[in-house]
Amino acid sequence: MKIFITGGTTGIGLAIAVQYLEAGHEVGICGRNIQKVDLDKNYPLLKKYQLDVYDKNALKEAVSDFANQNLDIMIASAGNYSDSALNQLSYAESTEMLKCNIVGAVNTLEVSREIMHLNNKGHIAVIASVSGLLDYPKATIYSKTKRALIQISDAYRRALEDFGIHVTVIAPGYVNSPRLRELNNDDLSKKPFVVDCQYAASIIIKGIEEKKNLVVFPPKMKYLIGFLSILPARLLTFIMLKRVKHQKNG
Ligand SMILES: NC(=O)c1ccc[n+]([C@@H]2O[C@H](COP(=O)([O-])OP(=O)(O)OC[C@H]3O[C@@H](n4cnc5c(N)ncnc54)[C@H](OP(=O)(O)O)[C@@H]3O)[C@@H](O)[C@H]2O)c1
Repeated sequence: MKIFITGGTTGIGLAIAVQYLEAGHEVGICGRNIQKVDLDKNYPLLKKYQLDVYDKNALKEAVSDFANQNLDIMIASAGNYSDSALNQLSYAESTEMLKCNIVGAVNTLEVSREIMHLNNKGHIAVIASVSGLLDYPKATIYSKTKRALIQISDAYRRALEDFGIHVTVIAPGYVNSPRLRELNNDDLSKKPFVVDCQYAASIIIKGIEEKKNLVVFPPKMKYLIGFLSILPARLLTFIMLKRVKHQKNG
């Protein structure tokens, strides 16, 4: 199969790329800095593209070059996140998050659709977050972008199903990636149910194989989110803000 992964240069995206390469598939990855990936000699079926997903033309050119009209799977993993609430973020940080998590993801859905329409088949997996499954007023702008992305992906699923193209939304809990470690000064001890990138990649690949609409993991986080999502908004807000304070002070 031919599989393209945006944000495949580190973290979850890279772990997915390696698992597909190990299984003998052709994999294309992109990121703004591809120098950090040094897998080429081990994996001749890997192709790397340096681009920002905000630039739709650059993304279309790269995916067309890689897939040559035959794209089986697209995984939108490129994401930009920080832990902070809106009033602690600069304008540049907020817009970077919106450009990557919303416009970049829509560009990825659109480019996939344009190429997959040629054969009327394909599969798009969009990496959102469990934080996007909860609706409460004081959620961070990151959670809001992922909530919007879940809704947007649902709309694409409905629009594309008649053309043989399936859309899976992935909602991971905490995954021990370089970015999550960087944001937490290498200490993830206060984060609940953290899993590693290899585990995340295997769950995501299985969810795509099973053509799931929504994949939430790990299971303990899925049950916790399921419980929290039925609470009244004010109680949910109280619990979530207490949790943030505990993680910062504790
Ligand atoms: N780790 C977690 O706990 C967690 C939990 C839930 C959801 N997620 C989501 O999972 C995805 C991967 O997260 P991660 O933790 O593995 O993050 P990561 O280690 O920071 O990796 C992010 C990847 O996206 C690329 N990227 C970022 N902005 C880009 C842009 N504008 N254009 C092209 N590529 C871009 C990065 O490469 P460059 O910097 O070179 O561009 C990198 O390859 C994200 O969508 C994130 O929101 C993560």
